[in-house]
Amino acid sequence: MIQNDQATGLRMMVKWLKRHKENPALADIPNPSVRTIAITSGKGGVGKTNITANLAIAMTMQNKKIAVIDADLGLANIDVILRLNPKYNLEHVVMGEKKLQDIFIKGPGGLTIIPASPGRLPMASLSEIDRTILIKEILKSANNFDVTFIDTAAGISNNVVDFVISAQETIVITTPEPTAITDAYAMIKVISQRADRNIGIIVNMVQNSEQAKDVYDRISIAAKRFINAKVHFIGYVLKDPAVPDSVTMQQPLIFRYPNSNATQCINALAKEILENRIK
Ligand SMILES: Nc1ncnc2c1ncn2[C@@H]1O[C@H](COP(=O)(O)OP(=O)(O)OP(=O)(O)O)[C@@H](O)[C@H]1O
Ligand SMILES: [Mg+2]
Repeated sequence: MIQNDQATGLRMMVKWLKRHKENPALADIPNPSVRTIAITSGKGGVGKTNITANLAIAMTMQNKKIAVIDADLGLANIDVILRLNPKYNLEHVVMGEKKLQDIFIKGPGGLTIIPASPGRLPMASLSEIDRTILIKEILKSANNFDVTFIDTAAGISNNVVDFVISAQETIVITTPEPTAITDAYAMIKVISQRADRNIGIIVNMVQNSEQAKDVYDRISIAAKRFINAKVHFIGYVLKDPAVPDSVTMQQPLIFRYPNSNATQCINALAKEILENRIK
């Protein structure tokens, strides 16, 4: 199985290199009016995908042109929570079988989703060159949207951090759990070592706004004191059973439970992010 995956990985690389040779002008920095925002975390399962999907839908409902890239490359997620069945995904792009635009699918409200491949080891551990070419294509496509969200995997691997650094803006999500806070801090440290930027923080699954502020303050004090990193509080999402329920139903939270606590938090976050760049 592993040998098979390695062979596939090699084939992918050869195809990519061939294609890149034929197509050297892959890179295009997004023009300044468009936004690329990476949503990431240190610890897994803190709510990145749910928050990204619902933020993106909330913004689409305000007539913004939004794309979400599922950059959790080896484990597709966003298409599952939105009950989409993509025929093609980023693996087909990496293999040179499809252009990025060919794998776009329409999500709720007309949102564009760029799906990852489900359960594929070669995608989860892309080589640096594959990753670089893929990121360049993604940045180029960002010119077609007002905001492109990049929903990353958790953790500080190169697969994640390269995507984060490539985006203009970064949001780190944490929950109040001490392990999530410690891992968020580690992620902030790694990002700050590679890029001089203000990092936005969203605290998810909180009991109230005071708890969110308290978590943010702890991160902010440590970030300023020990790593000289700049962080910025964007907002919070309350812990709400409507979120897992909407996942189980595979329906967007903000449509299924438009008046829920979590939806109100998502709408407030969408407003804040649309009004202020994280710089
Ligand atoms: N505000 C919330 N209240 C209650 N449950 C939540 C909330 N946000 C997320 N969850 C639950 O937490 C789980 C993880 O959410 P999600 O998949 O969005 O996290 P993730 O950070 O994208 O995970 P991964 O690191 O695996 O990509 C889901 O089961 C979801 O229902
Ligand atoms: Mg996820």
